[in-house]
Amino acid sequence: MEDSSNVSEEYPMKGGDGPNSYAKNSIQQKVVVDATKELLRKAMKEKLDLEPFNTFHIADLGCSVGPNTFFSVENILEAVIFEYQSRGPSSEIPEFQVFFNDHTLNDFNTLFKSLPQNRNYHAVGVPGSFYGRLFPKASVNVFHSSFALHWLSRVPKNVMDKSSRAWNKGRIHYSNNQDEVFKAYQAQYAEDMECFLRARALETVHRGLIVLNLLGLPRPFVEMVAFDILGSCFLEMAGKGVISEETVDSFNIPSYFVSPQELEVIVERNGCFSIERLETLPQHVVKHGARSASAIAKAAASTLRAAIEGLIKQHFGEEILDDLFSLYQQKIEEQISIYESKTPFVLFVVLKRKTN
Ligand SMILES: C[S@@+](CC[C@H](N)C(=O)[O-])C[C@H]1O[C@@H](n2cnc3c(N)ncnc32)[C@H](O)[C@@H]1O
Repeated sequence: MEDSSNVSEEYPMKGGDGPNSYAKNSIQQKVVVDATKELLRKAMKEKLDLEPFNTFHIADLGCSVGPNTFFSVENILEAVIFEYQSRGPSSEIPEFQVFFNDHTLNDFNTLFKSLPQNRNYHAVGVPGSFYGRLFPKASVNVFHSSFALHWLSRVPKNVMDKSSRAWNKGRIHYSNNQDEVFKAYQAQYAEDMECFLRARALETVHRGLIVLNLLGLPRPFVEMVAFDILGSCFLEMAGKGVISEETVDSFNIPSYFVSPQELEVIVERNGCFSIERLETLPQHVVKHGARSASAIAKAAASTLRAAIEGLIKQHFGEEILDDLFSLYQQKIEEQISIYESKTPFVLFVVLKRKTN
């Protein structure tokens, strides 16, 4: 088996179930799982080839610590079982095995401790990067991944190289940025996605499915307001001497927000999957109901903190976290309308393994 342990850097979500944990601060991601439930059911009905398997294998890639992964898996199982029931005698319903994948540093203990008691599947943890091989050949019927594939395997090298035109001085992302930085991130994403698709092409059963909830941003001018605001917090702290300018220059968030057209090109270039669905979900479907600016800002700060606290701690140290995220919350509240109008959209994608 190819070694998948060294193909990707690791930045797991905040583990445990404390107040800053991912488990307690991932409601926004759950809204997306709920919003795509019906699309997923339709995809299983229309696109899944049901055969009399003894065991049906499902893998959730980038599962984190729960609970959202359990909701995703439940949704898939419900839809698959319904299809078996409606197409043949119930004696033909197979057993289910579910693989929960994430980086080795993910808090799998919290995940396993919170596995649903009454689950109707056998659960397995699979550590390693989804940009490498994780499973035996032709062994998984349905792959699923939600809110995970915007994480790159690494920060593009030239973004951190002072002698490169893509050096990202004073900024933490390609958002709102010069062309060269964007191109460096774009190239890294294309490379990572090719690795992802190549590995999945080997691991998916004949005519198996990949279902993805991806985060995207419109083109041509790419603006990720959350990261622009976070960047301005770092600069403000550097201005006050709390952190050095050099540490800001050398910090970049390894995430990329694809466009539907770009994804199409990547999948077609890979050639192993047909695109069965590629839909942009309307913003109102993936947003919480109406709330005050301060409630939105508070939720935005705790969601982002649970996701990238580890990354920031590694680079700047733990001491800055509380001040950084309270400043971030304050700035989001001040710029609430631009923040609200420029959030990434969600792409619902269904790919089917071609028969070649
Ligand atoms: C925002 S969480 C999403 C968790 C869950 N799917 C949900 O919907 O709540 C993204 C997860 O992807 C994982 N991840 C990112 N890059 C990965 C990689 N290359 N291989 C495996 N997991 C990865 C992170 O560690 C993190 O747990």
